[in-house]
Amino acid sequence: MNTQLIDPFDRAITYLRVSVTDRCDFRCVYCMSEHMTFLPKKELLTLEELDRMCSGFVRLGVRKLRITGGEPLVRRDIMTFFRAMRRHIDAGDLDELTLTTNGSQLERFARDLYDCGVRRVNVSLDTLDETKFADVTRWGRLPQVLRGIDAARNAGLRVKINTVALKGFNEDELFALTEWCAAQDMDLTFIEVMPMGDIGNEERLDQYWSLKDLRARLAERYTLTDSAERSGGPARYVRLMETNQKIGFITPLSHNFCESCNRVRLTCTGELYMCLGQEGRADLRKPLRDNPGSDAPLIEAIREAITHKPKGHDFDYSRQVVGGKMSRHMSHTGG
Ligand code: GTP
Ligand code: 5AD
Ligand code: SF4
Repeated sequence: MNTQLIDPFDRAITYLRVSVTDRCDFRCVYCMSEHMTFLPKKELLTLEELDRMCSGFVRLGVRKLRITGGEPLVRRDIMTFFRAMRRHIDAGDLDELTLTTNGSQLERFARDLYDCGVRRVNVSLDTLDETKFADVTRWGRLPQVLRGIDAARNAGLRVKINTVALKGFNEDELFALTEWCAAQDMDLTFIEVMPMGDIGNEERLDQYWSLKDLRARLAERYTLTDSAERSGGPARYVRLMETNQKIGFITPLSHNFCESCNRVRLTCTGELYMCLGQEGRADLRKPLRDNPGSDAPLIEAIREAITHKPKGHDFDYSRQVVGGKMSRHMSHTGG
């Protein structure tokens, strides 16, 4: 029997993003509102349930697990879950166990993560200016994150920085961020801000800084060569000849990458979203909770869900309107 998950557009689903909590210790302005109501605990999958879910996907051919949130490292006892996932790496069933984090808790957890088989982390960082950092995260402290990044590198983790390109906010830091990453041999990926959450359309348009423009500005200073490298994620890469640095661009709006989509997203309540930019989802918590003794119904539900994966998202900033806007926050599906 072919255990692979293949969607209706012949794309193999090998990458699962798992949000383990909707909570975060920051409130980035493009991600959350200042006053968020978080889910009650009983709605969340327990760590054991998360294990069963992820293991089900691994059985079905998923080779890359990315743990997200909210902020994954604020979930209590999350290391127990990472430790459990290590067995799939040791067994050769998983190529990569990784996470996307805001870095605030890395100082505490970097070593443990390495011990659990994590080799790479993506850290979100939009500015190197302390005041601007406190503004964009609403109250985050930059030095804490920088210490976290150092701890990760010292523990042997490769760090990739994710920067959301924000017009009028970090345009002036393009070269500073690039140089700072180059000096520490860290890859850097820029992300176009996506129309999610409850921020008004106008405000979102104000924030939108096209990566075409950002790339053109980089090219004024550096020689960019297109790189065929892919990380299994949506980023396209260039190399800067002068620094031999890899720069990624995640451009869901100006250059859609849906045709090669290989991933689905599990929320912390056990819903499987087939696409970041669509509402289509399936409840996997019910088949899981209703059948404590058997994973067969879960496996069946996953297979069924994948048959509904859409061709792509509907985000659109053209004609000066934000099309396909999602009322759901990014923290709900883990970015
Ligand atoms: P790598 O493994 O390093 O390539 O990571 P990644 O880019 O897959 O994951 P990361 O968590 O660093 O995601 C960076 C950004 O890409 C986040 O803002 C995500 O929301 C966005 N992103 C990831 N996958 C998708 C996708 O399928 N569609 C869209 N529109 N955005 C995505
Ligand atoms: N648009 C683009 N990126 C976003 N992120 C959070 N919200 C948005 C948004 N509306 C980013 C974070 C993090 C990643 C998981 O998602 O900065 O790097
Ligand atoms: Fe937290 Fe990340 Fe959202 Fe910022 S972008 S509020 S760090 S989950």
